[in-house]
Amino acid sequence: PEFISVSNLADVIGVRPANFVSRMEDMGFEDVHYDHVLDAETAGLVAAEFNYEAIFDDGTADLTAAPPPEDASDLPTRPPVVTIMGHVDHGKTTILDWLRKSSVAAGEHGGITQHIGAFSVPMPSGKMITFLDTPGHSAFLEMRRRGADVTDIVVLVVAADDSVKPQTIEAIKHATQANVPVIVAMSKIDKEGCNPDKVKQDLSVHGVHVEDYGGDVQAIGVSGKTGAGMIELEEAIGALSEMLDHRADTECNAEGWVLEASTKSYGRVASALIRRGTLRPGDIIVAGTTWARVRTLRNEAGVAISEATPGMPVEIDGWRDQPAAGTEILQAPTEQRAKEAVDYRLERSETVKMGEDMAAINEARLEKR
Ligand code: GTP
Ligand code: MG
Repeated sequence: PEFISVSNLADVIGVRPANFVSRMEDMGFEDVHYDHVLDAETAGLVAAEFNYEAIFDDGTADLTAAPPPEDASDLPTRPPVVTIMGHVDHGKTTILDWLRKSSVAAGEHGGITQHIGAFSVPMPSGKMITFLDTPGHSAFLEMRRRGADVTDIVVLVVAADDSVKPQTIEAIKHATQANVPVIVAMSKIDKEGCNPDKVKQDLSVHGVHVEDYGGDVQAIGVSGKTGAGMIELEEAIGALSEMLDHRADTECNAEGWVLEASTKSYGRVASALIRRGTLRPGDIIVAGTTWARVRTLRNEAGVAISEATPGMPVEIDGWRDQPAAGTEILQAPTEQRAKEAVDYRLERSETVKMGEDMAAINEARLEKR
């Protein structure tokens, strides 16, 4: 902005407005009021009095996402992203294993999911669906904190012999805040002592109203052991995603999110979910304060692929530094632009930090008077 009010500038610098005004009057400004608007030059002058150097930021150094399309109806469809959530040990990975006909759960260290697992599977209709398996919810909450609502559907897994537990409630909160439709999978229905009716009752206490309990959320009893209910669950997910009809531009600059980052024998990699555009080897991308010239793209099976399109989980290498989970990925036209954006972001975070330190010092100085 080219103008700033006295009170906003005081805010930015971190000084109480009353102290700020009297300091301005000491500088020779007359009849200063909180609402007075200062032009950039004057604001810079006043800021200098507080040992701040004003940088005139026209916002062009950073990379930003393109605005969402006004009308998406002509764009190609993309796979929906389904996130499996629920309390620890309630059978999330087992359900996913069944859906992709593999057995990750058995091989997991101590049976606990360690990373966000992401993969796409074709539904009986032939349509692809992308599934995310979350370890607890911390990585996911971090993503939401950064404004990334990556999921289109939540499958809430509740063990029928254990019912609603703290992480179940957290998952419900997450789905509600993100305004995402929920399908309930009541797992372990093969077990003795399981009580699906109690699950339904407990869920309604927490605002999830299933069919027969005053709502329209589907609740399906499943067993990873016998396979009972699994086809029904698969159909429910398929039908809901068919109805939601998600579409995304595949021709614009690539955008996405880092799901998690790690180091493998062939270097630093990040698993990512593409949101818009098409990512190809050789493309240049920025994520937070690091960037990459994509060397290889791999699918979840580790097979090199020539492009990644919206809704597709993909592993990206070629990173200068390890990107952070939950950061947004944006394509840059050139390496030069990528470096510029990273420099800008580093400087900005430095300035914010310095600003906080300076504000504390100034405050202390003003208090002393
Ligand atoms: P975390 O990733 O640690 O949160 O667990 P999870 O929710 O992914 O659970 P997981 O699928 O790893 O299953 C936990 C345990 O419950 C394992 O020992 C499974 O074999 C068992 N289990 C999962 N589903 C069923 C089921 O339908 N019936 C029975 N009997 N056991 C199940
Ligand atoms: Mg798991």
